[in-house]
Amino acid sequence: MSPTPPTPLPRRQFIRLLGGGAVLAAGVPLAGCAGGLPDAAVAAWSSAGAETDTRRFMLAHALLAPNPHNRQPWLADLSVPERITLICDGERLLPETDPFGRQILVGCGAFVELAVIAASQRGRAVSVTAFPDGAPSPTAMPRGTRVATLQLGPEGSAAADPLFAQIPRRHTAKSAYDPQRPLPADLPATWAATAARHGLRAGVAADPERLAALRRITRAWLESARLMRIGPKAIETHRDGISINGAMPRALHAVGLFNPMEVPQRGSSLFKTVMDRWVPFETGAGYLWLASTGNDRRSQLDAGRAYVRLHLQATALGIDLHPVSQALQEFPEMRGPYDAVHRTLGLDPATQTLQMLARTGYALTPSKPSPRRGLGSLLQA
Ligand SMILES: Cc1cc2nc3c(=O)[nH]c(=O)nc-3n(C[C@H](O)[C@H](O)[C@H](O)COP(=O)(O)O)c2cc1C
Repeated sequence: MSPTPPTPLPRRQFIRLLGGGAVLAAGVPLAGCAGGLPDAAVAAWSSAGAETDTRRFMLAHALLAPNPHNRQPWLADLSVPERITLICDGERLLPETDPFGRQILVGCGAFVELAVIAASQRGRAVSVTAFPDGAPSPTAMPRGTRVATLQLGPEGSAAADPLFAQIPRRHTAKSAYDPQRPLPADLPATWAATAARHGLRAGVAADPERLAALRRITRAWLESARLMRIGPKAIETHRDGISINGAMPRALHAVGLFNPMEVPQRGSSLFKTVMDRWVPFETGAGYLWLASTGNDRRSQLDAGRAYVRLHLQATALGIDLHPVSQALQEFPEMRGPYDAVHRTLGLDPATQTLQMLARTGYALTPSKPSPRRGLGSLLQA
C-alpha cells in the first residue's frame, strides 16, 4: 500500500507548528549574505552623501534604515519649507506578520533617527514631533498616517553625530556568526545607556542557559513567501522584500517549478531544507533585546530610533546584528513563544514589551547591502 501523501498545512498552522515561522526554499541566498545584486538596486548605499539639499541628504540616509521585510514603508512630504513629514506608506504594511503595524513603526523610528543623525552632519538640529495628528489606534495603521514631523533648526544648531559614518556601513548580517568570540565586556552597558535615552531598556542575553532557551523559542521563523523577489529583474524592480538570486530557484521559478507561496510539508525534503537553513541563525555570542514599558505607538517609534543607534554602535565595533522577530509577533498562534521569550529575558509580558530581539556577534563573512528604492519614490508630490 502506498503511503498517504502528506497534507499541505494551512499557513497559520505551519507557523504554530514551528513555533512561528515559514517559508524559504532550497538553496535560497538572502540579501545581505549573497553577492551579485544588480548595481541599481544597491546604488542608494553609495550615493547618499552626494545630495546637496539638506532635506534630501537626510532622506537619502534615512532610507537606509533597517526595516521589517525591507518593505521600506515610508513616504516624505516636503511641502512645508525646512520640514519633513514622514508618512507611513499604507501600501507597504505587513498584515500577515505584523498585524498591528508595530514592526512597521519600529522601521519608521529607525528612519527618523537616521534622518536626525544625517541632519547633524550638516550642523542642523531636528525637532521631532511624533504623530502630529495623534497616534493611530493600537491595532490598526490607517493609510496615510503621519508618523512624525522633522523640523530643521538653524545652521550650527547641532554638532555632527559620530555615528553618521556608520550609516552606509550598517547591514543586517543574516549569515553564520563566530560561535567562540564574545562581545566586548562594556558593550551591554553602552547599549543599555543608549536605550535609556529613548526611554527603553536594553540588555544582552549571553549565558548558556538563556542562549539555549532563546534559540529554542526562536527556532521558528517566518518570512512572507509572497515578498520573495526572484532574480535580478524582480530585485531591481521592487528593491524590497526578500532577494532570491540563487541560480537554482531562479531557474525553477522561470519554468514554473518553484512556487514562492509553497508551504513546506512536515517530513518533506523542503521542510528539512528549511530547518537546515536555520542552523546559522543559531550562531553568535548572544541576543540583544530592547524593551519598552507598555506598548504604545510612541514606544514603538522610540524603539526604532534606539535600535538603529544600537546597530550603528555595533557596526562601529565590527559587531553584527540580526533581528529574529517571529516570537515577538502578536497574532494568537504566537502567544506561547511570545510569553516564553519575555519570561526568559525577565520581562513581564503584561506590562513590558519586547520590541526587538536580535542575535549578535561577529559574522564570519562580511555582510552586504540589501536593495533600496530610490529617493524619488519616497517623495510625495
Ligand atoms: C522591526 C524589524 C524587524 C525585523 N525582523 C527581522 C526578522 O525577523 N528576520 C530577519 O531576517 N530580519 C529582520 N529584520 C531585518 C530586516 O530584514 C532588514 O533590516 C532589512 O532586510 C533591510 O536590510 P538592512 O538592515 O541590511 O539594511 C527586521 C528589522 C526590523 C527593523
